[in-house]
Order: sequence, then C-alpha cells, then structure tokens
Amino acid sequence: MKQFGITIGTTFFPFSLWAKNETGEPLILPDNPLYKRLAKPVTAITLGAGARGNVYGDYAIEYPEQLTIVGVAEPNMLRNERYATKHNIPDSDCFTNWKDVFKKPKFADAVIISTPDQLHYDPCIEALRQGYDVLLEKPISPSEEECRAILELTQKTGRIVAVCHVLRYAPYFIKLRELMQSGTIGEIISMQHLEPIDHVHMSHSYVRGNWHNSKETTPIILAKSCHDLDVLKWMLGKDSKKIQAFGNLKWFKKENAPPGSKERCTDGCAVEYKCPYSALKIYHREQQRTYVFDLPKEKRKQDDAILDYLKTSDYGRCVYRMDNDQCDHYTTNILFDDGVTATFNMEAFTPWGGRRTRVMGSMGYLEGDMNKFKIHDFRTNKSKTYKTKTTDVDHYKNEGHGGGDWRLVSDWIQAVAQHNPNLLTSTIEASIESHIMCFMAEESRLTNSVMEIKM
Ligand SMILES: NC(=O)c1ccc[n+]([C@@H]2O[C@H](COP(=O)([O-])OP(=O)(O)OC[C@H]3O[C@@H](n4cnc5c(N)ncnc54)[C@H](O)[C@@H]3O)[C@@H](O)[C@H]2O)c1
Repeated sequence: MKQFGITIGTTFFPFSLWAKNETGEPLILPDNPLYKRLAKPVTAITLGAGARGNVYGDYAIEYPEQLTIVGVAEPNMLRNERYATKHNIPDSDCFTNWKDVFKKPKFADAVIISTPDQLHYDPCIEALRQGYDVLLEKPISPSEEECRAILELTQKTGRIVAVCHVLRYAPYFIKLRELMQSGTIGEIISMQHLEPIDHVHMSHSYVRGNWHNSKETTPIILAKSCHDLDVLKWMLGKDSKKIQAFGNLKWFKKENAPPGSKERCTDGCAVEYKCPYSALKIYHREQQRTYVFDLPKEKRKQDDAILDYLKTSDYGRCVYRMDNDQCDHYTTNILFDDGVTATFNMEAFTPWGGRRTRVMGSMGYLEGDMNKFKIHDFRTNKSKTYKTKTTDVDHYKNEGHGGGDWRLVSDWIQAVAQHNPNLLTSTIEASIESHIMCFMAEESRLTNSVMEIKM
C-alpha cells in the first residue's frame, strides 16, 4: 500500500493515490483536505488481540509514524505474548483482562476495542470516563439501550469514538455513494442489496464459530449485516422510516444431518469426503481460515495442530449437530424518506462473498459487485464501467473489506490527532442510526410485524 501513498518527511499521508485501480486509472477519492501532518504517532491500547485486534494493530507495524500500540489486554496467553512481541510492549502494560487496563492511570491517547460483541459496552464506557478516544468494533453493543448510553457519554465527554463500519471507507462504496448523491442516475427510486456470505464462511463463523449462538453474541442482522444496513442508509443519505424482515435457520439443523455423519468430521463420518462443510476439507486439506487456531510458527507442526483443534474445538464439529441458531437467510424491506425503497438479502448459500448492489434511478441504473460497477444512462443509452478493485485491497490478506479496514484506521488516527470527528464518517451518532435499523429488523422478524424506525 505504501508505494501508492505520499510520504512527506517521515509521515505517510494516505491520500487519494491509495485508490488507483489495477490498470492505473485515476480513481476515485478526492484528496482529504482535512488530513494534517502528525507531530507524533497516536498511541493506543488494544483490548482483545484476536483477528480484528491484529488487523488494526498491523497498521502500526506498517506505519509506525502514525500509530504506536503501547498496551494490550488479552486472556489468551499465546495471543497476548505474540501481540506484545510484535509491538514491543513491556510486561507492565500487558494485561489478561480489559478491566486491568483501566486500573492504571491513563497511558495512551486511545483504546482499540476488539473484544467479543458482548464485551464492547463496559470497556467503552470505562474508556470514555477515563478520557480515552476509542476505535470501537461493531456492533456498538447488543442492546439499543447500551448503544444510546455510549452515544450519550461520547457527547458528554467530547471524545472521538469511531465505529468500525469499515465499508464506509472502501473506495468502492465511497464512489457509489458519490454517484448516487450527485444525481448521476437521476432521482434514486429504489435499491437492491445482496450480502452473499459464502457457504464456507457461514459455516465457519455462524454455525461453528464465535457467532453461532445469537443469544450469547448478537443476531446475524447485527453481527454481520449491520454493515449492509449501514451502507444502504449512508449511500442513500436518507432517514429510514419502516422495516420488515423475514428469515430463519433452514439448513444447518439436526434433521438435515446426512445418514452416516458423526458428531465430529474426524470421527469417521461416512459422507465426509463429499460434504462441502467438512471440517477436514475446509481447515486441513484446504487450510482455509486457520488463523482462528493460533497455529505454531513452525510449518511442520501446523498440520498436527489443526487436526488436534478439529478433535477438540467447535471447528471440528458436524455443522448439522451444533447448538447454533443464526438465520441462514434473511430478507428485509426498508422504506426510506421520500418513498424510496430498498430490499436487503443476506444469503449463506453462495459460492462467493462480496456485496452486490443495484440502484434504480429515474435517469439510469447502477450495478456493482465491489470489484467494479456499471452505470447505464437512459438519456444517452450508454454504459460506463468503473473498476474499483484497488491495488492495496489484497495487502492485508485477512478480509480488507474492499480496502476499508486500513482507511478507517487512517481517518481515525487523524481524527484523534486533530481531535476532529469530522474526519470520520462512522461516528457514533451516524452508526447508531443503522444499529437501530438492525434492532427493528430483528424485532420485525420475531414478531411478524412491520416496525417503525424512530431515532
Ligand atoms: N468490522 C468488521 O468488519 C468486523 C469483522 C469481524 C469481526 N468484527 C467484530 O470484532 C470483534 C472481535 O472479533 P474477532 O473476529 O477479532 O474475534 P476474536 O475472537 O478473534 O478476538 C476477540 C479477542 O478478544 C479476547 N477477549 C475475550 N475476553 C476478553 C477480555 N475480558 N479482555 C480482553 N480481551 C478479551 C479473546 O480472547 C479474543 O482473542 C467482534 O465484536 C466482532 O463482531 C468486526
């Protein structure tokens, strides 16, 4: 990524040059006039050094002039030690629980809250009380009441809280929004948005993995699709008025377990070799998503370690015999201001991920898949294709969210350094609005009713 940015002195300025497409065509993002040169790096403490804590922490490794990680709280000792080593954190600033961080007087500008969903509220409130700025993973909290309490304290303390609605920072969605709001296809009439989770990703995260139980974490509309309702609303730039949802868990259930299958894929399952959800296939033969296993560094030991995990952790269990309850398909209809409508579908059973969006306008039509989008103008009957796959998207191999992950960090660092929330698009105020859409969608699904959305 660095080669596409601007370096002035020792400070890297990730301006619009980040957003050249693969063929070098000028893209898309105007220079951010609010960016300023940093006098010193922003300092942060990471609470939760799992997958996301490392995505954000790695930014500090790449751009030490902008961000320094000075503390960590993580109960998994392997992760804790690896994170401390990576960021050169002294023992005195390594903790096993987020609570211990706040027993010390404030020792950084900010905290990064990348703990599990149900552990966002308490650390965020404590951080705000102690005067830290915050990078807060979504969901803000599993409860509307707690979301509103965080908003209230943020406003009272005047701290910076950026919610990790990373799609708002992806060049693809930024450009889509700009085209929609500048009238390129006339007045927006309606939208269709699809979130194809991909069947393996679904089985990994929402059947076997961290979010398999909606009551212990959050319902999938919040856990996964809060990004989608958020970008829909953000791109339209309109308030949502009503929402209606349907969805259920149809496939990953005991009654669909094939004859001959066992509790674990490693137990001699008779259909393992032809099951698309086989844990042996996904994690061992294809080595997908093995980052959850904290594997030993030595390659020769990794195979055995994966097999051990499959014999002992949820990741080796049969997808039809989990105690999961997340919907595997979820449909919502949304009414926005001025009669604009949108449909949103979350689908588990697709061969690929990557959001797909269609926008119907009075003078044209727009369709995109996160790598490119096409505009058809009814007045000229001509189409134009924009390629938006940015060269840096693959830089971070672990889900860059269309380049949004690190662009969010970059804007957040500037917001903290300048103490200016206008650097951010996913402020706590803006993010809560789309969270409320999710809460209302889930209530609609559960009560079989159309819900009004009141902010
Ligand atoms: N913005 C996005 O696109 C995005 C993508 C994935 C996950 N998330 C969210 O990020 C958060 C973290 O997800 P993840 O995938 O990194 O999960 P993870 O399980 O990899 O990481 C969470 C870490 O928090 C640690 N933890 C648990 N209790 C703790 C405590 N008391 N104090 C400190 N640390 C504690 C866990 O040991 C774990 O290492 C979740 O809320 C998730 O929904 C956001």
